[in-house]
Amino acid sequence: MNLKSHLLPEEVFSAVAKCATKINLDAYVIGGFVRDIILNRPSKDIDFVSVGSGISLAKKVAQELNCKNLSVFKNFGTAMVKYKAHELEFVGARKESYQRDSRKPIVEDGTLEDDQNRRDFTINALAIKLSDDGYGELVDPFDGVNDLKKKIIRTPLDPSITFSDDPLRMMRAIRFASQLNFDIEANTFDSIINQADRIKIVSKERIIDELNKIILSPTPSYGFKLLFQSGLLHYIFPEMIALHGVETREGKSHKDNFYHTLQVLDNISENTNYLYLRWAAILHDIAKPPTKRFHKKAGWTFHGHEDKGARMVPTIFKRMKLPMNDKMKYVQKLVKLHLRPIALVRDEITDSAIRRLLFEAGDDVDDLMTLCNADITTKNPNKVKRYLTNFKKVKQKLVELEERDKLRNFQPPISGEEIMKRYNLQPSRIVGEIKNEIREAILEGKIDNNKEQAESLMQEIAKARGLEN
Ligand code: CTP
Repeated sequence: MNLKSHLLPEEVFSAVAKCATKINLDAYVIGGFVRDIILNRPSKDIDFVSVGSGISLAKKVAQELNCKNLSVFKNFGTAMVKYKAHELEFVGARKESYQRDSRKPIVEDGTLEDDQNRRDFTINALAIKLSDDGYGELVDPFDGVNDLKKKIIRTPLDPSITFSDDPLRMMRAIRFASQLNFDIEANTFDSIINQADRIKIVSKERIIDELNKIILSPTPSYGFKLLFQSGLLHYIFPEMIALHGVETREGKSHKDNFYHTLQVLDNISENTNYLYLRWAAILHDIAKPPTKRFHKKAGWTFHGHEDKGARMVPTIFKRMKLPMNDKMKYVQKLVKLHLRPIALVRDEITDSAIRRLLFEAGDDVDDLMTLCNADITTKNPNKVKRYLTNFKKVKQKLVELEERDKLRNFQPPISGEEIMKRYNLQPSRIVGEIKNEIREAILEGKIDNNKEQAESLMQEIAKARGLEN
């Protein structure tokens, strides 16, 4: 197969071919870029492998392309050229395992075949020749193109060797299966099951990168089910394993919260590509196992799982090396509030309840509604219909109240400082109490959210407390 016409941008590939001839070595495009050409997927980063020094080739190519952006990693035998939006990575063919993000210096030179042997999957071991004799020719020793057609993830060597070279590849297998909607070949999957515990030696940073890619794939439940079946999930995310299973007592069962969570995740993925909103879906019920109780009358309850869940978010984020910043706070807020809109749908929808929701959710109220919509997974069509109709009403009310009361990013119309100045008070509890009373009155709809009405209420409160005659 000749893929010449796909080698774009052309100037990059012809520069590599020209430079390789000049310094007398064979060069190839390899890995994900080739795979993505055949799959017709866009891909920016291009990996080149040369039989001989990748660094020398990179230096020449940078010159040829008139590009000053060259980084050389001498210890790893690699070099990177940034050219427009592309990252061109150069490496010499090697006998040992290739991992782009490895910190291990590996330098044993090898042939192209050696190099292809030590890559992760047949579909990632495809190479395209760049020298003049056969420019554009595909080199596919493991039938990778056929695996792309059959939609199969398979290792080039015995999977136990490929995975022990780099245990992260077990997660990569599942990540590619989930991103591309491929199957993992049985022998390869068995090997993952056998070696799952070796994921423990991989750094948290590398694991979370792959997990996030699984979460961002079109139907993430598929990737999670593979993680679960392979045993990997037990090591990387035990809180999620605890969601699995159904318990029955006195004829009463609760739903399987693992599969429910995956359904919510798939649902939300139809409406958002935002990683942390998807994370909120994954974590919304995470505290159901530790809050689960059985009552003779009420059956199974999970009281307070939203608050406990919110408290678990930082622990999970920290352990998994997810960012401990506003993104974590955002997930925490959504977990904490995830029952509120549904409670509104069940009860009578009062203005004050809606105002409180707006006040607490702030700018994230729309994402909260997206999460709650995704959380409706009941199979009972009447229930779904009722929920959705009421949900629409809640949304409508949110819009109306928001217009009128401007509560989304509520700033108290009278500040603590103003209160202190007016009544000559030091910072004290009473200042906070007056502020709270004013806020409560606004949320309850007793007064409007403006300075004038807040001011006269303040006077009333001050009078009652003996601060004003
Ligand atoms: N590779 C490998 N083993 C790893 C990581 C990478 O064999 N643990 C090889 C594969 O040949 C892979 C190439 O290095 O195709 C580039 O790796 P990477 O950029 O991580 O993945 P891509 O396949 O390019 O896919 P994506 O860009 O979607 O991450």
